[in-house]
Amino acid sequence: MKLCVVGSGYVGLVTAVGFAEMGHDVVGVDNDVRKVESLSAGRSPIYEPGLEELLLRNMEGGRLSFTTDLAQGMAESLFCFIAVGTPNADDGSADLGAVLAVARQIARSLSGYRVVVVKSTVPVGTSKKVDQVMREELGLAPGVPQERFDVVSNPEFLKEGSALEDVLRPDRVVVGVDNPRVAELMKELYAPFTRNGHPVYLMDVASAELTKYAANAFLATKISFINKMAELCDASGADIMNVRLGMGSDRRIGMPFLYAGVGYGGSCFPKDVKALIHTGEALGIPMGILKEVEAINARQKEIPLDIIDRLHPGGTDLKVAIWGGAFKAETDDIREASALVTLEGCLARGHRVALYDPEAMVNLKARYDGRVTFGKEPYEVLSGADVLCLLTEWRVFRTPDWDRVKKLMRRAVVIDGRNQYDPRDLSARGIECYGIGRGLKSSSR
Ligand code: UDX
Repeated sequence: MKLCVVGSGYVGLVTAVGFAEMGHDVVGVDNDVRKVESLSAGRSPIYEPGLEELLLRNMEGGRLSFTTDLAQGMAESLFCFIAVGTPNADDGSADLGAVLAVARQIARSLSGYRVVVVKSTVPVGTSKKVDQVMREELGLAPGVPQERFDVVSNPEFLKEGSALEDVLRPDRVVVGVDNPRVAELMKELYAPFTRNGHPVYLMDVASAELTKYAANAFLATKISFINKMAELCDASGADIMNVRLGMGSDRRIGMPFLYAGVGYGGSCFPKDVKALIHTGEALGIPMGILKEVEAINARQKEIPLDIIDRLHPGGTDLKVAIWGGAFKAETDDIREASALVTLEGCLARGHRVALYDPEAMVNLKARYDGRVTFGKEPYEVLSGADVLCLLTEWRVFRTPDWDRVKKLMRRAVVIDGRNQYDPRDLSARGIECYGIGRGLKSSSR
C-alpha cells in the first residue's frame, strides 16, 4: 500500500522506515530542507539502534524516499500520516499548531480520497479538529457526510532506544476510526505487523486518543510511585531493590517501570503528563494524582544536588564528574534529561563539571560547550573529581574498574542515580556510594 508520513522527527521517521520495511511504499515529508537532504543521502538525524541500516536498505529497495513537497508526497498515497510535534504550550496544553497546519495543507493538496491518520500524540478531541479545519479548507459543511477524506487516530507507543523494535513488533496497534470501510483499510495496512498475534484494537476516535495519554501517564505514575517508596526506604533503612522484587513479582504489578532513580525525562512523559492534567482540568476534572506524579519527579531530579550540598555544605569549585547525559540509555536525546538538572545546578553553584555519555555528546556540546568539560571515555572525566554522579543507565557504566575509579578521583564518592551499583559492595571497596532508596541511611535527605 502507498502512504506518506508528514514529519520526519522521532515518531515520523521510525514509522516511515517501519512501514517501508514491511513492504509498503512510503514517502517521508518534512519542511526542514537540511533534514530531507540528509535523509535522502541515507543519514539519520537521530541515533536509534538499527535505524540507519533499515533506512538505507529501504531507500535502496525503492520503497522509501523523502521530500519537502507535501503535494508530491501525497500524490499517490492513500494514507497521509500526520506525525509532527505537539510541544507544550505555555499553559501546559498540547500545542496543536503544527498538526492543524499540516491538516490544512493536506486538504489543500487533496487530489483524490485520502485517509488522514493522526499519529502525533494529541489530546482527546483533536481528530475532530483535524476534520473541522480540513472541511474549512475544502469549503465543506461541518458534520455533513463527505467522501473526500476520513480522519483516523492511530497513536504511537514506541520507546526511544528500541523504537524500531517497538514499531516492527508492537504490543498492540490502537486505531480510532468511525468508518467501518476505513477500519478495514487500517487493518490491511497493519497486517504485516500483526501477523504474529499482536492485536489491532479498533475503537472510537476519542478512546484511541485518550489511550495514548492514559498509558504514558500510568507509566509515569508507576515511576513516581516507586520513587516515593524509595524515599520511604531511605528514611527507614529498607532497600528499594528488594521492595521492587517483592512487589513486581505480583503479576498484577509487574517488574517493568519500577526502577527508582533520578526521575523520568524525555520528550513524552513530562509533556504528556502536563497535557493530560490540562485536559482533565479543562473538562472540570481535578488531576491531583498526576500533579503529585510531576512534583515527585521534579524532586527526584534534585537528589544528586541535595547529596552534593550535604557532603560539601556551602562548597564551591568542586569537580563533579557525570556519567550519562541522555534522558535514558540507548538514545542521544537529552530533552528533559535528569542529568541536565544536576549539570546546571552544579554550574550554578560554581562547581566544575566533566561529563561523558556514549551517544549524547553532540547534543550536549551544542548546549554546554565551553562551560562543561567533555571526556572521550568514562575514566577521562574522573581525574581529580570530588564526586561521580551516574545519571544514565548505559551498559558501559555497569561494571567499572573501581580501583581505577578510586585512583583517579580526589575523593571516592559515587552518587548512583540509577541504582546500578551495590552500595555495600562499593563501601567494602572504600567508596562512599549514595543510591536512590538503598537504605543504609545512605542518602538521608
Ligand atoms: C515513553 C513510553 O514508554 C512510550 O510508550 C511512549 O510512546 C513515549 O514515551 P520514552 O520516552 O522513549 O517512551 O522512554 P521510556 O523508556 O518510557 O523512559 C522514560 C523515562 O523514564 C526515562 O527517563 C527513564 O530513565 C525513566 N524510567 C523508566 C525510570 O526512571 N524508571 C523506570 O522504571 C523506567
